[in-house]
Amino acid sequence: MRKQIAAANWKMNLTIEQGAALLEGIIAKQQNLKEDQQAIFAVPAPYIQMAQHKIAGKESMFVAAQNCYSKKNGAYTGETSVEMLQSLGVKYVVLGHSERREYFQESNQLLAEKLNICLEYNIHPIFCCGEPLNIREANTQNEYVAKQLEESLFHLSAEQVQQVVIAYEPIWAIGTGKTATSEQAQEMHAFIREQLAVKYGSGVAANISILYGGSVKAANAAEIFSQPDVDGGLVGGASLVVDEFVAIIGALK
Ligand code: G3P
Repeated sequence: MRKQIAAANWKMNLTIEQGAALLEGIIAKQQNLKEDQQAIFAVPAPYIQMAQHKIAGKESMFVAAQNCYSKKNGAYTGETSVEMLQSLGVKYVVLGHSERREYFQESNQLLAEKLNICLEYNIHPIFCCGEPLNIREANTQNEYVAKQLEESLFHLSAEQVQQVVIAYEPIWAIGTGKTATSEQAQEMHAFIREQLAVKYGSGVAANISILYGGSVKAANAAEIFSQPDVDGGLVGGASLVVDEFVAIIGALK
């Protein structure tokens, strides 16, 4: 069975003391994850070592970076390289979050380059895709997401693409409290999986975890995660609250 993942995206939140307390609280309350389940914590870069220390020994828990640069190293002030992440033992990195696409003008082409270097360093990308409200209202979300997959992912080999976790995050649901319905989530997840199957075959497509993100809460996680092509969630606001995120982990299939 493909991995079922509860991924926390802390974004640019918390002091290091608050982050440490949050992780301690979640770890203390977390029931044992099943064999195919994972909890991933995408923390701000300055907190990576702290988070790695907190989850040490928890084999189903992982730390993710929230971004990385597309070059191995060099004169890119302020950036974080995959070489640095690998040296910290980081196994996942969120790429292409809508906030980075919007505020930092990250293109599908740049994301293709970031995916390539992450895979070169054996770091699993959590590749974010999803449409803005105007596209949803025009009912052209499938074409929009298909373009993101085509331009950033579909140059990868079948072996490489199976190292990628995909996160579908309808932008109109992020931070708004307006969660996609479970039917909307399943429809897009099934579409994404079909695009993967057309490109790589149904066996490869079946191996790739596709997470939903956009106002996931303890109250709605079980319904969304119960959908056949939803393999967990990428969670923002609710991941900053111990009991919320513990419940969301508990909602995994
Ligand atoms: O990356 C996850 C994030 O975009 C979702 O945020 O607060 O709607 O759960 P939120």
